[in-house]
Order: sequence, then structure tokens, then C-alpha cells
Amino acid sequence: MPELAYVNGEIMEIGQAVVPIEDRGYQFGDAVYEFIASYNGRMFCLEEHLDRLMRSMQGLAFPPMSRDDIRKAVVDFFDRAAIPRAGLYIQISRGVSPRNHPFPDDAGAQFVMTIRPVEEKPLVMRENGADTITVEDLRWGRCDLKTVQLLGNVLAKQKAMEAGAFDAIFVSAEGVVREATSSNLAIVKQGALVTHPLTAHILPGITRIVVLDACREQGIPVEERIFKTDELFGADEAFLTGTVTEVLPVVRVDGNAIGDGKVGPVTRRLYAALRARAEA
Ligand code: PDD
Repeated sequence: MPELAYVNGEIMEIGQAVVPIEDRGYQFGDAVYEFIASYNGRMFCLEEHLDRLMRSMQGLAFPPMSRDDIRKAVVDFFDRAAIPRAGLYIQISRGVSPRNHPFPDDAGAQFVMTIRPVEEKPLVMRENGADTITVEDLRWGRCDLKTVQLLGNVLAKQKAMEAGAFDAIFVSAEGVVREATSSNLAIVKQGALVTHPLTAHILPGITRIVVLDACREQGIPVEERIFKTDELFGADEAFLTGTVTEVLPVVRVDGNAIGDGKVGPVTRRLYAALRARAEA
């Protein structure tokens, strides 16, 4: 199973793929991306990821690209790699052009992808739950667009690791709980799920859509609303949702146990529901 890269239509081994130094993604973070996982040889939620990719490109006023062409390239690349449980990154930048802030006239988008086997989260973390810290959200104001400007996320994740935790949860200066560094966050209180509404402060996660859908199917009430750290600390359960994290229980935040400090029943049910849909 080779780990492959795609660069503007050419497929090669990952180690051989390079982008030009004047790629605007490299120079300015002027690029968008998606991460798609496959289960049993099928990409999960491909159309939803394409929806978000198109939305991110529109949000940055990229010249229009054909969704059908992008889909075809993604599917061909995925088929070529033939990795049943793969993680596929798509990244599209505004193109290559002599360094200058304004949009170039005709740079032509740079379209790259990589694919390799997914690194599953350790079983022990699924069984026992993850430890997290809170950090102030210092990211830019359009976190709803999936851009490669991830320095705020990188620094927060590093801080979590150095604190011996798995992840960091972004909290606004006013104490509003937003999301984690590469996952959305939900809490459960008295059987109801609460999660931040879709605003410019969080990424509209695809896994979040699947999980909220599963809640509706299972009769779990959903509240998409702002909540603060006191509600997080007082929650019965908390969990992350994301393409890699799937539904990952959070049992500690800043050293405080959430609920009884064990993985809760709603989290377990929703993880099972997600896996069932992904593997169907
Ligand atoms: N990250 N919030 C942030 C900041 C993210 O980066 C991600 C995904 C999510 C969850 O979105 P989804 O359910 O669509 O994966 C939420 C991907 C996995 C990444 O950066 O690799």
C-alpha cells in the first residue's frame, strides 16, 4: 500500500512531491484543505467534504473551480492508492506567483493531495477517555473556513501535549467554549447534547453533522447554543467529534473530572452510531 501524493494531476510517492517556493499557501497561508477518511475502501461523507471545500474557496474568493473535476481527481487518486482505511488530504492554494499580497491575476490554483493509512486513536483513549486543557482562542475571525492557517491550533495542541493532555479546547475571552484544535466539542447534560452553534468561530464539522443526525434518530435532544466553561465543568459527559477523533470521550479538563470521570453512555452510543454509518 504505497503512500501517494498528487500534484496538479500527477501522482507520485509522497517523498517525491514538492510545491514551488512561491506557492501562496506556503507564503501567506492562502490555501484551503479537507481531510477525508475511508472505511472498508469507501470514502465517508465525500459530498459533504466537497460542499465544505467549495464553501471555503468561495469564502476566500478563489477563482471558481469545477466541483466535478475535483471529485473526479479525488476519486481517481483514492482508487489508485487502494488503501481501505485511508486518510486523504486535499489542499488547494490560490496558486504560484511572485510574492505580493494582492490576489494575482492568473496564478492558477495549485491542487495537491496526499493519502496514507489512517492512524487510529489508541484503544485505551477510547476506553478511558482523553485529558484536555482549555486555552484562550487566539485564532483569526473566520474559523468556519478550513484554511491552512493553523498556527493557533498548532500552538494550542503543543501546549496540551506539554501539559500531558491530549488536546486543547479553545475558549473565548468571555469564557465561551468553542471547539478543540482539530475537532468540534459537545457536552451532555441530563441526557441532552449541547454544542456551539455554527458561527465564524468554529469549523462546521462533518462529523458534527453526522453525530447531530444520529442524536435526532435516537431521540437525544440537541441544543446548538453558546455555553461557557462553568457548563463544561458541570457536564455529565463531554466528547470531541472529528474525522480522525470520530467521537472521542473527554473525561478531564484542566485537571477536573467531567461527570464521574468515566466514559459516559451517550458518548458510547454516538460513537457506535458513527462507526455503524461509516462502515455501512
Ligand atoms: N480537522 N474543528 C477544527 C478546528 C478542525 O480542524 C476539524 C477537522 C474539526 C472537525 O471537522 P470534521 O468533523 O469535518 O473532521 C473541527 C481535520 C481532521 C484536520 O485538520 O486534519
